[in-house]
Amino acid sequence: MYNEALSIVNIETHRQQHSYSATSLQETELIGQKIAKQLTFPSCVYLQGEMGAGKTTLSKSIIQAFGYVGAVTSPTYNLVQEYQVDQGVIYHMDLYRLEDPSELEYLALDDLWSNTSLFLIEWPIRGAGYLQMANAEVNISKALDAVDQRNIVLTV
Ligand SMILES: Nc1ncnc2c1ncn2[C@@H]1O[C@H](COP(=O)(O)OP(=O)(O)OP(=O)(O)O)[C@@H](O)[C@H]1O
Ligand SMILES: [Mg+2]
Repeated sequence: MYNEALSIVNIETHRQQHSYSATSLQETELIGQKIAKQLTFPSCVYLQGEMGAGKTTLSKSIIQAFGYVGAVTSPTYNLVQEYQVDQGVIYHMDLYRLEDPSELEYLALDDLWSNTSLFLIEWPIRGAGYLQMANAEVNISKALDAVDQRNIVLTV
């Protein structure tokens, strides 16, 4: 099937990698639902990939897959957006506009961590040194030839 995962285990780190391929926005949304099934609370997920890769698109479908029914908006201007779901609270962050990682101190992220937190963090590199370590990672890359195609790799 088009977006079925190819799964491998890294022999050194013992981490699992699930690779998906999407040829449209809708397929990426379906992959977001599959990724959500592999995530547990608490978790810290780093989403990486160039601008327009689909990090926010995937975050939205993950948030909705956990049962959130309201609007999910991009957290670009306020850094962190919270979503209350049955299993806990999802904190969606986009650090692209952060000028210095130390600006994260004002958010007191440590206080947001609990057994019922799920962090989805776009542009984690901009917050390096001030973020919780990731226990899952999503890497999205655009295909060179097809505008709507994406390769998505989940590492858990
Ligand atoms: N297969 C696809 N998956 C995801 N997005 C796609 C796909 N095909 C086209 N797109 C388009 O690519 C864009 C992805 O935007 P999105 O905001 O999700 O990216 P982003 O990685 O969060 O970018 P940024 O770094 O600016 O936050 C959207 O305009 C979407 O319509
Ligand atoms: Mg984004």
